[in-house]
Amino acid sequence: MLKNDVLPIAAYTDKQWFDLEMRHIFSATWAYAGLVEDLAQPGQFKTVQAGLNSIVIVMGRDYRLRAFHNICRHKGTQLLRAEGTVKKAITCPYHDWTYDLEGELISVPKMNAEFANLDKSCLGLKRASVDVWRGMIWVHPEADAIAVSQWFGDIEPHLGAHQPEKLVEAADYKVVEDIAANWKIVVENYIDHYHLAQLHSGTLNMYDHAKAEFGFIGPHFAFWEPLDSEYAANLEKNASMPLIDHLSADQLGASVPMLFPGIGLGESETSWSVFHITPIAVDRTRVEVRTKVMPASDWQFAKYGARSSKFWQKRIGPKYPSLDASHPLGSADFMQEDIYVCEQQQKSYQSPYFELGPSAQHGESPIRGHQQVVWQYLKPFADKLVGDK
Ligand SMILES: [Fe+2]
Repeated sequence: MLKNDVLPIAAYTDKQWFDLEMRHIFSATWAYAGLVEDLAQPGQFKTVQAGLNSIVIVMGRDYRLRAFHNICRHKGTQLLRAEGTVKKAITCPYHDWTYDLEGELISVPKMNAEFANLDKSCLGLKRASVDVWRGMIWVHPEADAIAVSQWFGDIEPHLGAHQPEKLVEAADYKVVEDIAANWKIVVENYIDHYHLAQLHSGTLNMYDHAKAEFGFIGPHFAFWEPLDSEYAANLEKNASMPLIDHLSADQLGASVPMLFPGIGLGESETSWSVFHITPIAVDRTRVEVRTKVMPASDWQFAKYGARSSKFWQKRIGPKYPSLDASHPLGSADFMQEDIYVCEQQQKSYQSPYFELGPSAQHGESPIRGHQQVVWQYLKPFADKLVGDK
């Protein structure tokens, strides 16, 4: 099935592949659930989809985070939606079964009349795991999951030295995009070194792609590249935003890892972002990007913007300047450029005339690496999968 380390086209177009990935990858690994500041007060909750599981994370009155499967123990109705605050209890809308913030069942309407000897003690909410790592909240559908610090332990030394807790969210930088492509195409594009100097010739030229260092550490991908020398020569003046103050000179550049499965980080000299990939269907993927920057005044940001504008005006531009700014390749926006090629690729995968071309030895090695990781998870179910189309 994995010919020359490459997954078959069916892996991107066939629903059975998608269903098995949802069950055996996204329901069996740690899922990103937000930033720690999302759940700061007792009673605050947030629901997240971890593969096939809806999970609710609640901040308890003891300021501890707890995670439960978001399903009533009576008939399985979803208990809470999106995010918000509950006072003291979680009540199912169907029959008003009510649980406390520790997940114990505390009341059932007409309990004595309707149920013979109901034992509430074994009807608490099913527990999931929740933990905090690098300023992010993580959940795992299993109650006794491996520690999140252990899951990410080997990749941690290869990440940026950023301390997300010391940064503040730039709310106007939040991006949500629904992309008409399989989640693996979005991941592969994110980790592909070969396209950086070409597709993003006008948008990501502040880094020295030729000096990039990258590779897989277990299932996770590490990527680092230094600043371009012209940008670096006068960094304080050229930076468009305040520089992250806790990075040393040799740490200035871009660390762009992809944590498995589908959690990209963008850790740069001026910002720190989470690029969260959620599979929606075999050919549809949601990406949500949240960005943190130095806590500085609006005046400070304006000062950096004004001082650097000349430098960036000369440097940043669209892939094809003849195109209108509404076209991705005329937008001068690297995310729009990426979405464009991902959607094109997915479309071509439907064509009977499509045949995958050769893979670049160095620049596309991350893509083959990711396909191998996915295959490790799906290999035990190979008999259920269709191969080359
Ligand atoms: Fe890209």
